[in-house]
Amino acid sequence: MKILAFESSCDETAAAVVEDGRRVLSDVIASQADLHALYGGVVPELASRKHVEAIAALTEQSLREAGCGREEIDAVAVTYAPGLIGAVLVGLSFAKSVAYAWDKPLIPVHHVRGHIAANYLAFPELEPPFLALAISGGNTLIVDVRDYTDLKILGATRDDAAGECFDKAARVLGLPYPGGKPLDELAQQSQGGVYTLPRANVDGAELDMSFSGLKTAVVNLAHHAEQTGRPLDRAALARDFTNAVSGELVPRVMKALELTGRRTLCAAGGVAANSVIRADLQAACKKAGCRLCLPPLKLCGDNGAMIGAQGYYEFLAGNTAGMDLNAYATRAIDR
Ligand code: KG4
Repeated sequence: MKILAFESSCDETAAAVVEDGRRVLSDVIASQADLHALYGGVVPELASRKHVEAIAALTEQSLREAGCGREEIDAVAVTYAPGLIGAVLVGLSFAKSVAYAWDKPLIPVHHVRGHIAANYLAFPELEPPFLALAISGGNTLIVDVRDYTDLKILGATRDDAAGECFDKAARVLGLPYPGGKPLDELAQQSQGGVYTLPRANVDGAELDMSFSGLKTAVVNLAHHAEQTGRPLDRAALARDFTNAVSGELVPRVMKALELTGRRTLCAAGGVAANSVIRADLQAACKKAGCRLCLPPLKLCGDNGAMIGAQGYYEFLAGNTAGMDLNAYATRAIDR
């Protein structure tokens, strides 16, 4: 079964063709990062407009690269939540138009379910059940993937997402948007151990996380240095900050593995590209004797192929939608 899939929840417009949820026939992405870098963050209205400009040509390119015409496409999958509402609406409206005009089933896909499904593309033999650590610009979740479409949240951030925290920390360190990758590169220049940063625990919810205090601490350190003229060891701060984020994530997900008895952990989302977090997960899973799936960097960030992968399993579960399907800025992954 060949699925034409769309993703437009933030600042990447993406279209892909995926066969049987596992084989990527094409995967094209138009990133808007350079545009939003001018403003130091995503400007939602500009994102929506850029999606409108890009999506038709990307669709043609995706079909061409996959060697498919409309006859070969069996269904259309699209991110319907969560994300910037205007941005999601562009992809959703376009996908609806294609599904209607071509008379194909329309499959709604939750964006974070898509991120987790990137693992099905990277690890063709992977099957649920497993645990997923979904860490992106807007979400930070520990998820029990009981089956392809049966997911349960075990832990979540109570405030900022890990990616949002990386982007804010990067900004005060003078790094360009999106800051996760440049901050990762800067952090590699230091072993850290210079700055003491706060760690948070959520009372009565040992798998939940909080990142806003950490974010504020980095912002205050940077501003204090600026105002007093004291030197700031930017690389050390980047490293200590990254270690602190990893220190929030890794022990909790290992605890979740212990509590559930699951033996496989899959990382997902843009922040799963972070070199320190990847290394820490590798070390922790090796020690615990668990299998770790780390998708290649290309599959960590937003892409259309992951939506096509999850779309296949949503279709098998009967999760299709009518033309009244709406977009949602927020939506639980386990609804
Ligand atoms: O998954 P993604 O592409 O988009 C969302 O669904 O949100 O994640 C984007 C986030 C951004 O916050 C970006 O700074 C972060 O992923 N990111 C990283 C790295 N690469 C991207 N964060 C830390 N280290 C990285 N190497």
